[in-house]
Amino acid sequence: MRPILSVRDLHVNFGGVKSADGVELDIHAGEVVAIIGPNGSGKTTFINLCTGYVIPTRGTVLFDGEPITRLPPRKITRRGIARAFQIPQLFTGHSVLENVMLAVAAQSDIWQPIGPLNRETYREAALRILDLLALNDSADQPTAVLPEGLRKLADIAIAIALKPRLLLLDEPTSGVSTAEKTPLMDTIVAMLRAEQITALFVEHDMDVVERYADRVFVWDTGRVVASGHPSEVLYNPSVIERVVGVA
Ligand SMILES: Nc1ncnc2c1ncn2[C@@H]1O[C@H](COP(=O)(O)OP(=O)(O)O)[C@@H](O)[C@H]1O
Ligand SMILES: [Mg+2]
Repeated sequence: MRPILSVRDLHVNFGGVKSADGVELDIHAGEVVAIIGPNGSGKTTFINLCTGYVIPTRGTVLFDGEPITRLPPRKITRRGIARAFQIPQLFTGHSVLENVMLAVAAQSDIWQPIGPLNRETYREAALRILDLLALNDSADQPTAVLPEGLRKLADIAIAIALKPRLLLLDEPTSGVSTAEKTPLMDTIVAMLRAEQITALFVEHDMDVVERYADRVFVWDTGRVVASGHPSEVLYNPSVIERVVGVA
């Protein structure tokens, strides 16, 4: 089966630092994969390269077999890749429901800038997304007052409003208390499976990786240095030395 995402020989430098140095990987439809690796190894850069925020100096990104390598972010979103940020990107003065309605409206082809918040169809679509992410009880809360775990979910709800087939999550559990991590990841992964969305998440907590990832890719200095099932990769001595021991 053709991979949903296929990356070959991806390179980019920032001031002499090789943030991507020949990255290669394939992700298949339906997988939930994790990226682990030391700080500064190029994990966020990889997400930026796949979403058009950073242009590679060399290499290819294929989505569904089609090159997306030099497309701008909004065109890549239209093709079906969405992302959520390490720091949630929310309109903090607006409620969770309003934030998701704005994203639904922005995604809609019939978007009219005047009065999108009043449109019942946007509201229904947004409420369905809140339901998928167990955010119903927070719908009317301003996003500024939410605990970090719910802010992360609200950011993901906005990404889901863009109707992705591939979702890229940069550290979904960072800044979230240990007690919140399992319910947060349970909710995210249940939503992914229910909506048949393929996902990649950057993660520092090895317990989270082991529990939720079908496969894991290990990053070091802009390269994939190991990959496989978490039960193999996380117990590989060289991976432990590079990543697990320092994470
Ligand atoms: N837009 C940018 N401009 C300049 N340097 C960058 C940029 N993005 C990333 N870098 C550099 O690339 C390296 C990898 O960063 P990053 O991808 O954020 O790592 P990670 O997410 O694995 O911690 C770092 O040295 C970082 O400073
Ligand atoms: Mg990062």
